[in-house]
Amino acid sequence: MIQKVRKAVFPAAGLGTRFLPATKAMPKEMLPLVDKPLIQYGVEEALHSGMPNIIIVTGRGKSAIEDHFDVSFELERLLESHNKKDLLNTVRAVSDMIDVSYIRQKEALGLGHAVLRAKDLVANEPFAVVLSDDVIDAEIPCLRQLLDIYEFYGSSVLALMEVPKDSISAYGVVDAEPVTHQGSTGKLFRIRNMVEKPKPEDAPSNLAIIGRYILTPEIFKSIESIEPGRGGEIQLTDALKHLLRSRPVYGYKFEGNRYDAGDKLGFLTATVEFALQRHDLGGPFRQYLKSLKL
Ligand code: G1P
Repeated sequence: MIQKVRKAVFPAAGLGTRFLPATKAMPKEMLPLVDKPLIQYGVEEALHSGMPNIIIVTGRGKSAIEDHFDVSFELERLLESHNKKDLLNTVRAVSDMIDVSYIRQKEALGLGHAVLRAKDLVANEPFAVVLSDDVIDAEIPCLRQLLDIYEFYGSSVLALMEVPKDSISAYGVVDAEPVTHQGSTGKLFRIRNMVEKPKPEDAPSNLAIIGRYILTPEIFKSIESIEPGRGGEIQLTDALKHLLRSRPVYGYKFEGNRYDAGDKLGFLTATVEFALQRHDLGGPFRQYLKSLKL
């Protein structure tokens, strides 16, 4: 029987150097896209995909994340006494939203290492990994799309996206063969090999791994078995490559728009797109954009 995926792991111990100085004293996961912190988009995606248990791997200086998902007694009291019901509901919704556990990653030793920190909390179950830098706007949440594949094959599944050659070196890249799934070809792949951040000339394809994974618990053994890779870090991509020796791993070209909110331009693009979609802001913001003499 294929086990249900209930838990989603959010590595959030990174230093956020791409956003300095903003991230000197604030976790990058708390940077707001319009008015919601980055990590909340990922958490909502997990919840809407049917994963009620959230595990956040934090580190030093990340307590704002814990406060964000906690009850803010003083704030709620204040909003209540000022009769600000809508805001009160918004604030409560955040803390009511999740059943969250935290585990610390004491040193930033890589994504694989961060995931391994969650081993005891995940226990012997399949689980999701969400990189909150990758914000995905999709009709069907990206994690839900991956789950549909997992529930069919019972194997690990990674999110894939085609990227241009000149940016391929920012990603894990797969060598994969298409699999016909429910009558259609070109979206699902069985992975043959993968490499973390190859030079463009060494990239096995233009299919990049995006920060959504459904993993079976054997991945922990693989993470424990590998040596540090790119950048001297324990890479999740290397662990997946190790897992390939004993298990099939699939990749799925998801439907939806992905923004690299860990990058300044990607962050700005996501901000504009999300603001335009908002019914309270979209109209006036569009007007403003139209007035720009570009
Ligand atoms: C991580 C992974 C990489 C993946 C990327 C997706 O890299 O190591 O394989 O392609 O996320 O965003 P990072 O962006 O954290 O350097």
